[in-house]
Amino acid sequence: MSGIAIDVLSLFPGMFTSVLGESIVAQAQKAGALQVRLTDIRDFAGGRHRQADDYPFGGGAGMVMKPEPVCDAIDWLRQDDESAKAAPVVYFTPQGRLLTQSIVNEYARLPHVILLCGHYKELDQRVRDHMVDDELSVGDYVLSGGELPAMLFIDAVARLQPGVLSDIESALSDSHQQRALGCPHYTRPAEYRGWQAPEVLLGGNHAAIEAWRRERALELTRRVRPDLLDE
Ligand code: ADE
Repeated sequence: MSGIAIDVLSLFPGMFTSVLGESIVAQAQKAGALQVRLTDIRDFAGGRHRQADDYPFGGGAGMVMKPEPVCDAIDWLRQDDESAKAAPVVYFTPQGRLLTQSIVNEYARLPHVILLCGHYKELDQRVRDHMVDDELSVGDYVLSGGELPAMLFIDAVARLQPGVLSDIESALSDSHQQRALGCPHYTRPAEYRGWQAPEVLLGGNHAAIEAWRRERALELTRRVRPDLLDE
């Protein structure tokens, strides 16, 4: 079947419920273009307290995610599941490479991905060395866990699945698909509170509209994200 299966390993799977139940991501699941399975890492943590973290060797502030619950959860997902066995494990961390549209486009083509959400200070490095295939960051700031980054990833990948957006042209003209920002958009009324929509968009000259959109997109990119043009 076309579409993508996404396994999420998290200590807080409940955080995903509202995001998965609304808008494009919910529609993608209904259409069979996206399957999301949430697994609670704590279900694989032993002991009475189901403890998933521990003190860092060598001391220092913050706790470290223990290796056993995470590795056992990944093994469990892959048990008797050829698709999960072949799926890359993506770990979200501020130390990862920056998530961009081109990385999203690549993952959107895969049949199956396993997303690993970190918490506490970090994940035991041995899991990162031996179980994780890719590490992604959603920006140069620190969040309290990998759940929100995983939700961003799921949304960005879901909307690219065939049949999810009614207008694929619209997805291709998004900001960042052309390594630039998109152009401004307007809708009715043509004048509101004395604010006029650009005249060129109201006429039917498609070549002029295209040229205007390209110029405005370039101007915006130059002003707000000149780094995109340097690349
Ligand atoms: N976990 C905490 N902060 C993060 C970030 N900026 N990107 C990805 N994962 C994170």
